[in-house]
Amino acid sequence: MLDQPVPGDADGVFEYCQDPVFERFLTVPWPYRREHADGFLSEYVPSGWMSDREYTWALRDAPGADLLGVIGLRLTGDSVAADASVHRMGSIGFWLGAPHRGRGLMPEAQRLVADWAFSSGIVDVLHWECLIGNVASARTAWKSGFRFSGVGPSVAPHRDGTSPDSWQAHLAAADDRTPQPDWPAEALAR
Ligand SMILES: CC(C)(COP(=O)(O)OP(=O)(O)OC[C@H]1O[C@@H](n2cnc3c(N)ncnc32)[C@H](O)[C@@H]1OP(=O)(O)O)[C@@H](O)C(=O)NCCC(=O)NCCS
Repeated sequence: MLDQPVPGDADGVFEYCQDPVFERFLTVPWPYRREHADGFLSEYVPSGWMSDREYTWALRDAPGADLLGVIGLRLTGDSVAADASVHRMGSIGFWLGAPHRGRGLMPEAQRLVADWAFSSGIVDVLHWECLIGNVASARTAWKSGFRFSGVGPSVAPHRDGTSPDSWQAHLAAADDRTPQPDWPAEALAR
């Protein structure tokens, strides 16, 4: 289930964010200190909800249970497609604590966020990206029905301010959410 991350989740966030995989693939501060977890939960998450700029949820097994990970939807504005149609875009980002990976939780969370975002009309296209090599992340987007759109500079700047090449994909409100054939083999290689 998804609900609001709260300040009491700071121990879990701090612990999970010591994972070296986060240094390699995420934009979170590094080294990740306890104050980063406190600031994320007490300031960043609530201000994102209040300003309607970024919605962040906690993944849990049950209400009030420990936080397992997070998923966020950042609104990135309108985009004009090649056919001149205008789309309301949102970008998803996510992580799970290492012990909770491999259970299919993140594809399920992506489905819930997409259902909410599309049915509420907040966005009509979701953007996903990951640094090249993050196969676990790519496999979740592929399973959720995203269409691979290519390699390009990351939309979200990395912590050093650069925009490294990333695998990118999109999911539109009208898409059927089944795995799409247009993904390169190296992005899905187990
Ligand atoms: C990406 C991530 C959220 C996937 O979530 P998940 O709920 O584990 O997703 P799934 O269960 O569908 O597994 C996805 C893939 O992870 C890999 N995987 C499976 N078990 C794993 C484990 N215990 N540890 C790491 N990766 C595992 C497999 O390649 C799997 O694909 P498969 O099920 O088709 O074989 C998770 O690996 C993670 O938090 N990674 C670190 C943070 C990160 O990279 N976030 C994304 C940034 S773009």
